[in-house]
Amino acid sequence: MSNKVFYSLVAVFIIASTVFWIYMFQDNSSSAPFPNSQTADVDMEGVTLTMYHSPTCGCCVNWAKYLEDHGVEVITEETMNVYSVKEEHGVPNQLSSCHTAVVDGYVVEGHVPVEDIQRLLAERPDVTGIAVPGMPQNSPGMDMPSDETYQSVLFDGETVTVYNTHN
Ligand code: CU
Ligand code: CU
Repeated sequence: MSNKVFYSLVAVFIIASTVFWIYMFQDNSSSAPFPNSQTADVDMEGVTLTMYHSPTCGCCVNWAKYLEDHGVEVITEETMNVYSVKEEHGVPNQLSSCHTAVVDGYVVEGHVPVEDIQRLLAERPDVTGIAVPGMPQNSPGMDMPSDETYQSVLFDGETVTVYNTHN
C-alpha cells in the first residue's frame, strides 16, 4: 500500500468517526428522558446557577445539562477540592453529594430536581439551601431507572427538613 493511499484511509477514518461521535452526542442530548414527569414543563429562564464540581465527574455535567434544558444558565467551576467548597457553603457532611451549586443566595447540593429549585426560589424559606443527599440513581443527571423513592431536604446548620419526595 502506498503512503498516499494509507494516509487517505486514515483521513477517511478520522472524519467518519468524528461524524459518528457528533451524531451520537446530539442524539443523546436531545432525547434524554426526564426522570421526573412533573419536571417537563418547568421553565427557569433568567435564573443563573454556579456549580462547583470535580473535573472527573460526568454526572455533574449531566445535571448541569438537565438544568440548561429547563432554561437555567449554568456556570461551571471545576475544583480539585469540592469538599472545601461544601464546608465553605455550610453543607452538613451527611448531606454531601458530588457537586455543590449556588443559586440566588441558596446552596444546592447534589442532583436536586429543577422543580424543587423553582419552588425554593418562589417560597424563599429562611434556610442555607437544599440537598438531595448521595446520588440516587433515578435523580436528574443520574438518569438510571429505579423503583426507589428519594427525598430533597432543606438544611440550615444541622437542621434538616424534608422538602419533597420523588420517584
Ligand atoms: Cu453525581
Ligand atoms: Cu455531580
